[in-house]
Amino acid sequence: MSSSEERVFVTGASGDIGSGVVRGLIKNGIQTTAYVRDEKKAEGLFKDELKTGRLTIVVGTYSSVDVFTKAIQGHTRLFLLFSAIGSKPTEMSQVKGTFGKIAYEQGVRQIVDLSSAAVSRLGKKGIIAYMHTAAEEKLWTLADDNPEQRSLVVLRPTRFMSSQLMTDVHPVKHLNKLVFCASPSSVTTWIDSRDISDCAVVVLSESVGKHDRNVYELCGEAMSNEERAVVFTKVLGKSITYEQKSLEDFYKTITARGITHSMAYNFTFPAPKDASNAVTPEISIIIGRPLHTVEEWLKENIKAFQ
Ligand SMILES: NC(=O)c1ccc[n+]([C@@H]2O[C@H](COP(=O)([O-])OP(=O)(O)OC[C@H]3O[C@@H](n4cnc5c(N)ncnc54)[C@H](OP(=O)(O)O)[C@@H]3O)[C@@H](O)[C@H]2O)c1
Repeated sequence: MSSSEERVFVTGASGDIGSGVVRGLIKNGIQTTAYVRDEKKAEGLFKDELKTGRLTIVVGTYSSVDVFTKAIQGHTRLFLLFSAIGSKPTEMSQVKGTFGKIAYEQGVRQIVDLSSAAVSRLGKKGIIAYMHTAAEEKLWTLADDNPEQRSLVVLRPTRFMSSQLMTDVHPVKHLNKLVFCASPSSVTTWIDSRDISDCAVVVLSESVGKHDRNVYELCGEAMSNEERAVVFTKVLGKSITYEQKSLEDFYKTITARGITHSMAYNFTFPAPKDASNAVTPEISIIIGRPLHTVEEWLKENIKAFQ
């Protein structure tokens, strides 16, 4: 791709995945627009990138459709991420449908959608899978309305390793335990958010035709709860055990923290039986290196758990 012809618009740009996408695109010499709701936060995050003169910051939200409509003009590609936290079940598909339609109508040729592996595994079962499946359906319909001009690539990651910063810091630090409601042998599938960002950057930097209509699942490692406790023990140098809470206790604890019924119920689903087959080493063909492991991630984030 001639980077001078391309302009990439990144939503959720100040988040975990989006910030990695912005940094990678700028590194590749691509004109990039970061769509953020907090300008100061973005200026702090992207100090170095702003110095290149290739990064523009636009302030807007998922509900400021007018701002988005004006700002997307002149862009050739869109990285589309909707943060589901605190949203209504139908909001993700509404926002992605609206932003996707406007983007394609304004001449965007490629949308890279940040979806979820729950779409492949659960369809519409559970609120997370429902939101992403309904959103994907809208985007596929939009893309197929004009297949010659409109390319769509979907990234379906499994559970982010960074989620451990939310769920595991307190019990590891204060109880020397990992605590969840699944059995010790139940497998969870993990991906490092840098692997997702790097994959998106490659897709957004290479020719549109190369990746058109691919669905890329992303899973770096599948690990049982007791195996993960062994990794924590090794990296932290102290004994960490796994404790299985009852479903009822787990549900009550997380709803008491303000998590909605639908989300809490979703988190109680047992892992799919074939979870250990979900790893995707083939993503290294795209990103040019192996995917990160939980152990690597933990070593880099060890301070949070000490
Ligand atoms: N966590 C997992 O295990 C997992 C697994 C698969 C898929 N996913 C999907 O990954 C996505 C989350 O990605 P992430 O971890 O990068 O999220 P994140 O770090 O929480 O970042 C979310 C981004 O969205 C922005 N944002 C939030 N509300 C907004 C609003 N109303 N208007 C405009 N921007 C808004 C945030 O802005 P601020 O920086 O100002 O807060 C931030 O830039 C979700 O779609 C989720 O379903 C997550």
